[in-house]
Amino acid sequence: MNETQPASGVAVLGSTGTIGVNTLDVIRRNPGRYRVSGLSGGRNVGRMVEQVMEFRPGRVAMADADAARAVERELRARDLAVEVGVGEAGIAAIARDASAAQVVAGIVGAAGLVPTLAAARAGKRILLANKEALVMSGRLLMDEVAAHGAELLPVDSEHNAIFQCLPATGENLDAMGVERILLTASGGPFRGCSREALVAVTPDQACAHPRWTMGRKISVDSATLMNKGLELIEACWLFDADPDRVQVVIHPQSIIHSLVAYVDGSVLAQMGNPDMRTPIAHALGWPDRVPAGVEPLDLLTCGSLDFEAPDEAGFPALGLAREAWWAGGTATTILNAANEEAVAAFLEHRLGFLQIPDAIREALDRVEVVAADSLEAVQEADRRAREAARGWIGEPPLDRRGLHG
Ligand SMILES: NC(=O)c1ccc[n+]([C@@H]2O[C@H](COP(=O)([O-])OP(=O)(O)OC[C@H]3O[C@@H](n4cnc5c(N)ncnc54)[C@H](OP(=O)(O)O)[C@@H]3O)[C@@H](O)[C@H]2O)c1
Repeated sequence: MNETQPASGVAVLGSTGTIGVNTLDVIRRNPGRYRVSGLSGGRNVGRMVEQVMEFRPGRVAMADADAARAVERELRARDLAVEVGVGEAGIAAIARDASAAQVVAGIVGAAGLVPTLAAARAGKRILLANKEALVMSGRLLMDEVAAHGAELLPVDSEHNAIFQCLPATGENLDAMGVERILLTASGGPFRGCSREALVAVTPDQACAHPRWTMGRKISVDSATLMNKGLELIEACWLFDADPDRVQVVIHPQSIIHSLVAYVDGSVLAQMGNPDMRTPIAHALGWPDRVPAGVEPLDLLTCGSLDFEAPDEAGFPALGLAREAWWAGGTATTILNAANEEAVAAFLEHRLGFLQIPDAIREALDRVEVVAADSLEAVQEADRRAREAARGWIGEPPLDRRGLHG
């Protein structure tokens, strides 16, 4: 880095979550290179106040109005007069703020869509962890990125790995000589379990991921394999592929984060210890490399690397994701929204683990698929899918912006 360059502004959306905390740790390790322009959270007041005290952002927002007031009060008591924005609009303002060159999309779920679109429309470099935003809006988000000269860099470890294994020419897969993308999956905490063994699993068991420490929603997605289904769709959008070109491979050690196979028989893999600070640092620094604080990989002690096919009969989520991709339009919006509702119900002990894909199946069967060509169309499909899933689960309708984080 040129030492005379000013620090680059980074807005961290979802700063109080796992991705947010890891991002701030990478920023902390690179003083002078990055400056936090804005932070957003849902309702974790204590963590937000700590982050504001340390990183002194120009702007802050909380999704929850009571949490926003509490953050403002706590900061005032510490002689820090920072205006705290509220809700989707307050968070979107942070994403489009002129002092942010890069926006880390680290909100969980559909709540991240509007702020991510705001970043795209403001021409930002978007570091995308919030895969649900892309899965639910697909073409819409990709078109906004292209129309406004924004950039989409993957932070999901698998997509970041694929990005690292592709040439930087930005051509399509055929022009780059790519035969196939191999998307790795740890298999989650229930790999190898029979359906009988999964009938009574609890949220805590589902969230006890063997390799990664993550938020509860993505942890459950990982246990059902829906995380891989969402990632399959994410990969299709990011790399202009279709599901026939993306092979999911279970790799329990999570040392290889994904691979790209070329027409000449070469297969390139990206490896490293499972730590989200690596893909975050890669995307933050790209095309440079910046320190991430990650333990170096020791090939002599990391043990053997195993690979197996996913159990698609036992874990139907992958098949549902493929089906939604091929159906096109708002089908992936419906898939995502129904999954969010089903996971929230499971986490609150209102739905069994094995019923999560059933609730999604119901929404896919019931809700009409239309073109996903506007934010309104996507939001309406999201609303209808939640209604269908909640009806099937046996719950009253819920506001779309309900906090599930
Ligand atoms: N964790 C990982 O290793 C990982 C890896 C790859 C991709 N991802 C993706 O990254 C995203 C975040 O995952 P995570 O594990 O960091 O989740 P997390 O730990 O649950 O954090 C979620 C963040 O979103 C905020 N939030 C929750 N509901 C919100 C709402 N309605 N409006 C605005 N903000 C809201 C939370 O705020 P409060 O906590 O303050 O309520 C928190 O800051 C997900 O899309 C996930 O799939 C995560």
